[in-house]
Amino acid sequence: MVSGRRKIAVIGAGNVGATCAFVLAQMKIADIVLLDIYEGFAKGKALDMSQNANVLNYNGTITGTADYKDIAGSEVVVVTSGFPRQPGMTREDLIGKNADIVSQVGAGIKDHAPDAVVIVVTNPLDLMTYHMQQVTGFPPERVIGQAGVLDSARMAHFIALELNCAEEDVSPMVLGGHGDTMVPLPRYTTVGGIPITQLMSQDRIDAISARTASGGGEIVKLLERGSAFYAPGSAAAVMAESVLNDRRRLLPASCLLTGQYGLSDVYIGVPCIIGSNGVEQIFELDLTDEELGSLQGSGEFYKGQLKDVLGY
Ligand code: NAI
Ligand code: 2OP
Repeated sequence: MVSGRRKIAVIGAGNVGATCAFVLAQMKIADIVLLDIYEGFAKGKALDMSQNANVLNYNGTITGTADYKDIAGSEVVVVTSGFPRQPGMTREDLIGKNADIVSQVGAGIKDHAPDAVVIVVTNPLDLMTYHMQQVTGFPPERVIGQAGVLDSARMAHFIALELNCAEEDVSPMVLGGHGDTMVPLPRYTTVGGIPITQLMSQDRIDAISARTASGGGEIVKLLERGSAFYAPGSAAAVMAESVLNDRRRLLPASCLLTGQYGLSDVYIGVPCIIGSNGVEQIFELDLTDEELGSLQGSGEFYKGQLKDVLGY
């Protein structure tokens, strides 16, 4: 394997973290450091993936560690450390335990990768992203939450199933928080440039929107242990690549709002351009009263949780 060049760190070598590292390795864009509180776990996963290099022709190293010194020089840090949901749990049930983990991880990133763009995946996503920004003190544009890419991809999949069409022709848009208050936007969701409102009945759109909003829970129920990781890990990898290569992709992601959509001081999913500085630009869509009300309701819910549960 060829070493050197650029570096991405993935914190948490569990299901989502390992999947993210695996997808990034196949992109061949950087060396990858996989950090977990359990050193052997991170080293074992990294070694296993490294032994795939010959088969898949990786062009970089994958290293496992429990030492934050090893993330030095990372341009992007993806944070997946934290407890996943079990059947019967909401994402919000994870707040206390995962906030402590984010505090610990944020301190490590601040000390050892102070210039990195941080992509948070840990749930409850919008709250943990806010918490990470506070712990690191990084400019808000350098701390982004991954949810919208996954939630939109889920919606795209259900639309492709419904229309029996290619997944790649679906351009979905899901905003809001990563939870029950998420806001699928059918008017801004197109297939081959045609809004889905012209391609299927309102009943089918409502059913797809509802299945999207409960998409994570559907998988938790099926797995009976833990939550989804293939699509979540891949979604985080796509965001990391957009940062590393300054791709400036327009993706839905959890960003700190400063008045957009009538919301401020809360992280929530909105369309943005993601480049080498993190969030390069946030777009304010022209929403109906109902759509805006849903987005604002989602934002207010998380503002309440930030204050009542996390004490912000
Ligand atoms: P997992 O249990 O498989 O992996 C979590 C890993 O974090 C474990 O290996 C654990 O040892 C590690 N960890 C715990 N405390 C740590 C610490 N202080 N420092 C470093 N590593 C630590 O869980 P999984 O399935 O990978 O999920 C991870 C998180 O991602 C969960 O909070 C889950 O709810 C969330 N998630 C978020 C999604 C999103 O769209 N935002 C989608 C899927 C999962
Ligand atoms: C998901 O949406 C649980 O947040 C995780 O799959």
